[in-house]
Amino acid sequence: MAVEKMRQGNGSISIVGRYTQQKTMQSDYTFEMSWNAPRGKVIGTGMSGPVRLATGKDGREYAVKSFKKKQLNPKARAELQSEVEIYLSLDHPHIARLEQVYETDEEIHLVMEYLAGGELYERLTRRKMYTEQEATDTVHQMLLAVAYLHSRSIIHRDLKLENFLYEGGDSDHLKLIDFGFAKIFTGSTKLSDTCGSIHYVAPEVLKKSYTSQADMWSLGVISHMLLTGSPVFRGSDLEIISLVRRGKTRLSSRFGDLSTVAQNFVQALLVLDPSKRLTAKDALQHPFLAHRNSIATSVDVEILHSLQNYAQASRFRRVCLSMMAWSLSMEDRQRLRGKFLELDVHKKGTISLPQFKAVLQESYHVNSAEAERLFAALDTDHDNEICYSEFLAAVLQDRVRMHEHVLRRTFARFDRDEAGVITVENLRTVLGDTFEDVDVMELMREADTTGSGFICYEQFLQYLQEQDSDRSQETSEKSCWDRSRSPTAQQREKHCNLAGGLMDVSTAELDAVEQRPLTPLTQKSVLSPSKMDRGLFHSSLMRAATEAAISCVRLPK
Ligand SMILES: Nc1ncnc2c1ncn2[C@@H]1O[C@H](COP(=O)(O)OP(=O)(O)O)[C@@H](O)[C@H]1O
Ligand SMILES: [Mg+2]
Repeated sequence: MAVEKMRQGNGSISIVGRYTQQKTMQSDYTFEMSWNAPRGKVIGTGMSGPVRLATGKDGREYAVKSFKKKQLNPKARAELQSEVEIYLSLDHPHIARLEQVYETDEEIHLVMEYLAGGELYERLTRRKMYTEQEATDTVHQMLLAVAYLHSRSIIHRDLKLENFLYEGGDSDHLKLIDFGFAKIFTGSTKLSDTCGSIHYVAPEVLKKSYTSQADMWSLGVISHMLLTGSPVFRGSDLEIISLVRRGKTRLSSRFGDLSTVAQNFVQALLVLDPSKRLTAKDALQHPFLAHRNSIATSVDVEILHSLQNYAQASRFRRVCLSMMAWSLSMEDRQRLRGKFLELDVHKKGTISLPQFKAVLQESYHVNSAEAERLFAALDTDHDNEICYSEFLAAVLQDRVRMHEHVLRRTFARFDRDEAGVITVENLRTVLGDTFEDVDVMELMREADTTGSGFICYEQFLQYLQEQDSDRSQETSEKSCWDRSRSPTAQQREKHCNLAGGLMDVSTAELDAVEQRPLTPLTQKSVLSPSKMDRGLFHSSLMRAATEAAISCVRLPK
C-alpha cells in the first residue's frame, strides 16, 4: 500500500514516520485477553469488524482496527487504501489521532488514540436529548472537524452519532473517527457511489450525484437528533429511502419547542437542494453557534516566545520536534490544543500566513517580516499552512516535559529498521533527500557530533536536552557506542545488556520505574521493555471487512 503519493501532499515527516511495513503491530502493542475476550477486549464494532483495546510500550491504551488483506476483494482493498491514506494525512484536535499504521503481507492495523468516552450515540441514548447549549457545543466541534475535511477536499460520507467519540467519560471533547468511506473529491466531478448509513444519507447520494454538501445533510440529521432525541426518518428501510430521496423530513413534535435560531439552523441543513444547504463554513457562522464564535483570539506572550525559540532552533531539532509532536500523550495535547483552535480564526483547521500575521500584529505588534520568518519556520512541510502538529512542535518545548516514552517513540519513528540507531538512510526515508534545501547528510551532522554516520539513542537524548548554542561535543562523543562496529551489532549488544540486566530486577522495581511520572533525561535512563515483552500475545486475526460491508449502504444500529 503506497504512502508514497501522499508524501508530497502533506509533509512526509508525519506520514512516513507513522507508517511501517518493517515492524509488526504485535511487537509494539499487546492485547489484554480474557476468557470472554480471547482476541483482546472489543471496544466497538462497525462494519469492518471489532475495534480492540491494546496497550502500548508506554503503558497507555490504544484502539486498534485491523483488516485481513486476503479477505478483501480489489474494491474493498482500494477502499481500505483510501482510508489509510486519508487518515494518515489528517491532523486536527477534533479528529481521532491515528498513531501508527502497520502493514504486513497479511494484515493492516490502524492504531489510534483510545477515546474512552464512548460514542456520541451512547451518550445521547443515556441522556435522551441535549439542551440547546449542549447541542451547540457538540455541533460546533463536529463542524470544526468537517470544515477541516472539506477545506482539504475530503468528504467523510458516513457522519453519524456512532462515528463521533468522546475523549473521556468526563470530557465533552468530541472527535471524529472512521474514514472507511472518506474520499478526496475535486469540485468538478460529482461522486456517485452510494454509501453511508440510511438514516443519515443525503438525498443526492441516493441519486448518485453529490459533493461534500452530502456531509452537511448528515449533520442536519445529527443536530435534529441531539436537539429532540428523535431521528428524522422513521419506517422501513424502503420507506426511509423514499422519504430521503424526496427530502420529506419528519421532524419531531418537540422540534417546535426549540428556539427559532435552533430550528432555523437544522432547517438550513436539511435542504433538499445541496447548493442551497449551509456549507460547513456558513454553518460555523450561523447565529445558532454565535456565542462560540465570540471567543476572542489572542496569543499569550509565552506562546510568542515559544514560536520565536522554535524559529531559532536548528533544522534537525525542528525535525525532531515535529516527529515528537506525533508522539505526545493525549494529556499533553489537551493542554496545548486550545491555543491552536484559538489561532485558527477562519476555522479551517489550519493557520494561514495572513491569519498568523494578523494575530501576531494585533497581540504583539510583531511586524510583517518577523511574522513571516516565524511562519516559515513553523511550516515544516512548506504547504503555506501551519497544521495542528506543526503548532504543537513549536510550542511543546516549553510546555511539555520530555517523558522518556515520548522520546523513545520519537526515536523509533526515525529508526525505521529497528537497528537501534538513526542512519542517514532513515532520515532520507522520512524526509526525502533534503530538508529546507539542505541535504539530510548535513542535517545528520547536527546531532552526529562524532561523525559516525548514525545517531544512537543516547546521542539523540543529549541533542534534544542541550540548547543549540551550548551543545557540547565532548559529552556527545562519550555517549555513543564504538563507531567502529556496525549499528546492528551494537543494537544486538544493547538488547543483550538489557535482557541480562532485567533478569535480576524484580517486578516491583520495574513497576516503580515505569510509574515514575517524569524521567529526567540521562544517559542511563532506559525504557524498560519488561511490560511489552511479558506475556506478549500473538493476536488472533480479526474478521476482516467483507465486500458488502465496505461497499453497501450501512444499516442503523
Ligand atoms: N479510537 C477509538 N477509541 C475508542 N473506540 C473506538 C475508536 N475507534 C473506533 N472505536 C469504536 O469502534 C467502532 C467501530 O469503529 P469504526 O472506525 O467506526 O469502524 P467501522 O468502519 O467498522 O464502522 C466505533 O463506532 C467505536 O465504538
Ligand atoms: Mg463507524
